[in-house]
This record gives sequence, structure tokens and C-alpha cells, in this order.
Amino acid sequence: MAIREAIRDGADKTAQASSFPLIHCRGLVKVYPLSGVEVHALRGVDLEIKQREMVAIMGPSGSGKSTLMNIIGCMDKQTSGDYYLNGVDVSKLDENGLAATRNANLGFVFQRYNLLARATALYNVELPLFYAGMAGAEAEAKAMAALDQVGLHDFSQHWPNQMSGGQQQRVAIARAIVKRPLVILADEPTGALDTVSSKDIMEIFQKMHREHGATVVVITHEPFVADFCQRKVVIRDGQIISDDQVPNWHDV
Ligand SMILES: Nc1ncnc2c1ncn2[C@@H]1O[C@H](COP(=O)(O)OP(=O)(O)OP(=O)(O)O)[C@@H](O)[C@H]1O
Ligand SMILES: [Mg+2]
Repeated sequence: MAIREAIRDGADKTAQASSFPLIHCRGLVKVYPLSGVEVHALRGVDLEIKQREMVAIMGPSGSGKSTLMNIIGCMDKQTSGDYYLNGVDVSKLDENGLAATRNANLGFVFQRYNLLARATALYNVELPLFYAGMAGAEAEAKAMAALDQVGLHDFSQHWPNQMSGGQQQRVAIARAIVKRPLVILADEPTGALDTVSSKDIMEIFQKMHREHGATVVVITHEPFVADFCQRKVVIRDGQIISDDQVPNWHDV
């Protein structure tokens, strides 16, 4: 069975048994060799994230947040420990398998938007569909629907440099959600934005969570950004030092 189907199959089972963790990290260690010295970025991380959770990951600079997200996002592999994405042992996948898993299941949002500068908002959002073999009116309709969801229906022909930072980040979110990923991973998505735009972005994530059952993991330094999430995980020196559910949380 292809990886995509294997994971989608698992997702269906997950929907029935919501206690099954979508993301399951056990004893994750990541050591970077750096000019003869070993940098211990993760020192044994145990983390379970269930489908439909909305989780903030916080912690000081250099504590290992992006390292953890890169492993969760199948962009890097751990040095030791286990990582299962919806029951699939990711460490057993080769480069092609990792790429397929990433493309089929994960949507990424980064601090710097990472949009193609010389392409319209619509084209930026269509791109993951093109890579997946979809084209023409079908791709355009899906991309327009995603732009609609982030409130940018009227901006489809704008180029990135004709939009504000917040609008560019909304295009990046539309691109991340256009293939309906199991998990949206965002590494400091509001890091380059003012407070008002940051709140807009977090409200969009909440809407994805509320209306589409998205599982959302957001790295942030900002407590008010983390306040949009139902669970807060804090990392320090490569270890989780706290993991709290927010009491009485509900998305707006
Ligand atoms: N490719 C790499 N090679 C060597 N060391 C690395 C590499 N990537 C990260 N590190 C080191 O691993 C540690 C954790 O880095 P990481 O980027 O995960 O931190 P972070 O919590 O995301 O920090 P920030 O909040 O500044 O983004 C740091 O000491 C960093 O210098
Ligand atoms: Mg980081």
C-alpha cells in the first residue's frame, strides 16, 4: 500500500479512536556534529499530539523548537529515539518516502512566508497542487477556495510585493492548507508581524481547527500567540519542561 494511503487509512481509524496520537515522539535525541563538537539539540523528547489538537511550542532561542519541528515535519531525522506519524515509523522511510509523507500529510508555514516573489498569490497556492499532478481549472478552483478561507479572494492576482506581511502570510497558509494536510506545522508564523496581523493569523489557524478539524502545531516566542492554543508545551535545553492544557479553552 502506498504511504499516502497507509497514512490516510490510519487517519480514518484515528477519527474513530481520537485517543490515538497522530504525532508520537519517544525519547527523541538530535545531535548535530559541528566542527568536531557535538551540539545536543534534543535530549530525549517524549511528545504525543492527538488529531484535532491545537498546540503551542514555546521556549528560549536555541532550545530545540525548530529541530523538533523539522523532525515532526519529516524534514530531518532524529539521532535516536522514535517518531511515528499516524502510526508510521518515519525513520524507516527513505528520502522518497519522507518527501511523499511530507507532501501528502503536512502543511508548513514559516516566519518569512517563503512565497515565490515573481508569481501571483493564486500561483503560489496552486504550486503544491501542480507538484501533485493536478492542473487547470481543478487546481485553480481548489486554490481559490483556499484563498477564500484566508479572506484573500480578491487578492488572487496580487504579487507578494503588492501585499502586506500579514496578507503574504495568509497566502502561505492558503498554500499550506490547499491539499488538506493532516497537520499544519508553523514555525514562528507571526515572528515578522505586528500584533494585529499576528492575531489575524492565529484566528485563521483557529478557524482551520474549528471548522476543518485541523491539527495545528505552532512554535512561538509570544505568550499572546500561544494563548490562541489549547495546549502549551515548553522546551528548554532540548527537553520538555512543561506541557499544560489550557483550562476552559475554546477557539473563538
Ligand atoms: N544544522 C545545524 N547544525 C548544527 N547545530 C544546529 C543546527 N541546527 C540547529 N543547531 C543547534 O541546535 C540547537 C537548537 O536549535 P533550534 O534551531 O532547534 O532552536 P530554536 O529553539 O528553534 O531557536 P530559535 O527560537 O532561535 O529559533 C541550537 O544550539 C542550534 O545552534
Ligand atoms: Mg527556531
